[in-house]
Amino acid sequence: MYSETAIPMTSARSGPLKGRVRAPGDKSISHRALILAALAVGRTRISGLLEGEDVLNTAKVLRLLGATVERVGEGVWHVDGVGVSGFAQPRDTLDFGNSGTGCRLMIGAVAGCPITATFDGDASLRKRPMQRVLDPLVRMGARAVMMADGGRLPLTLAGARDPIPIVYEPPAASAQLKSAALLAGLGAPGATTVIEKEATRDHTERMMRHFGADISVEVVGHGRRITLQGQPELVPADIKVPADPSSAAFALVGALLVPGSEIIFEGVMTNPLRAGLLQTLKEMGASIETLAQNSDGGEDTADLRVRTSTLRGVEVPPERAPAMIDEYPILAVAAAFAEGVTTMRGLKELRIKESDRLTATADMLRVNGVEVEVVGDDLIVHGKGRAPGGGLVATHMDHRLAMSALVMGLAADKPVTADDTSFIATSFPTFAPMMRGLGASFK
Ligand code: S3P
Repeated sequence: MYSETAIPMTSARSGPLKGRVRAPGDKSISHRALILAALAVGRTRISGLLEGEDVLNTAKVLRLLGATVERVGEGVWHVDGVGVSGFAQPRDTLDFGNSGTGCRLMIGAVAGCPITATFDGDASLRKRPMQRVLDPLVRMGARAVMMADGGRLPLTLAGARDPIPIVYEPPAASAQLKSAALLAGLGAPGATTVIEKEATRDHTERMMRHFGADISVEVVGHGRRITLQGQPELVPADIKVPADPSSAAFALVGALLVPGSEIIFEGVMTNPLRAGLLQTLKEMGASIETLAQNSDGGEDTADLRVRTSTLRGVEVPPERAPAMIDEYPILAVAAAFAEGVTTMRGLKELRIKESDRLTATADMLRVNGVEVEVVGDDLIVHGKGRAPGGGLVATHMDHRLAMSALVMGLAADKPVTADDTSFIATSFPTFAPMMRGLGASFK
């Protein structure tokens, strides 16, 4: 999959990675901050917003829907909202580019408003399933006027005139499904309830509460029962976006693998529903020390000191997947450099990310001489304490594969090339300069 705009990049064995860095603002929280601010009445100030393409597309879409969204400084944005159910009829297609999160959350938000909008995205997003997002929204009164075959984009959605509150049990552990239903529920009178069998990232719930919504969360086994009282008046509430643990993950694994490294990461969000990678790496023997603990925007954060470590293979249980769903490609890289087998179980959801990440992660390792198997929905990496490297990695329009491949090259015997790094700009536009600043050799 080569495009004319592809930007290949090669990483090579590097000296120690050293320094003190702050990863960019969390992507999940950045989307939600913009969306909920756009549904509040009055002005919200957001600082530390991730200025990656995915989030910028959400900002652009919110403008098309009538909110005023302005950048007033680096990472600082003002949003003047239109109130719950207040989105205006857009005059253009809502184009989300590569972003599944932006698109799915906004499908939910639009479903609770009496407007009709067309949703679209790039070639990667057009391959991803949208039908399952729509299922609860149709029960709430929204209607797909037009949709591409197989429940894909482009999609024209007519929002519900009088949204009906429902009780919804998502068919998969997905924060996007949960959040779409809750955002639609903002427009419905009475209680919308989401019952999750496995808890997923809870940023929507936390942020709705931050904006004054009445939302309660009950722990039920491994899952949650979430009840939102609809038609609240959302009150503007300033937000400081914490550093994204899913972005910090790349330099963090780089520090573990490149001999002599030591990096301090500032203000990384430590929400337990996002902390699966840290837990797994610690089980593998990683030296990750928690320094100062703090909080930002209703989320706990910590400064972390990470030092080069000898890693051993571990078994990663399926129930941990929701807490580290975006981190499997970079964990697989760490597993290649560990001694022994790492088995990552229950990765079905990985097949429908920006790429089929399960297959693509296995291919990334294989092309670099690492022994790897995909058995059903499990990924099994046979770690040998080193990786031969020398491969050309197909990144399939997937930012996380590109960054994982480049981290691999920093410690592999031979350089590793990612065929296209242009999509890194969707989530982490400062990745290459930040890594170079730490000592990474990227060409
Ligand atoms: C996200 C949820 C996850 C994750 C994505 C961000 C979110 O997707 O992969 O990068 O912000 O809600 P699913 O909820 O579909 O697993």
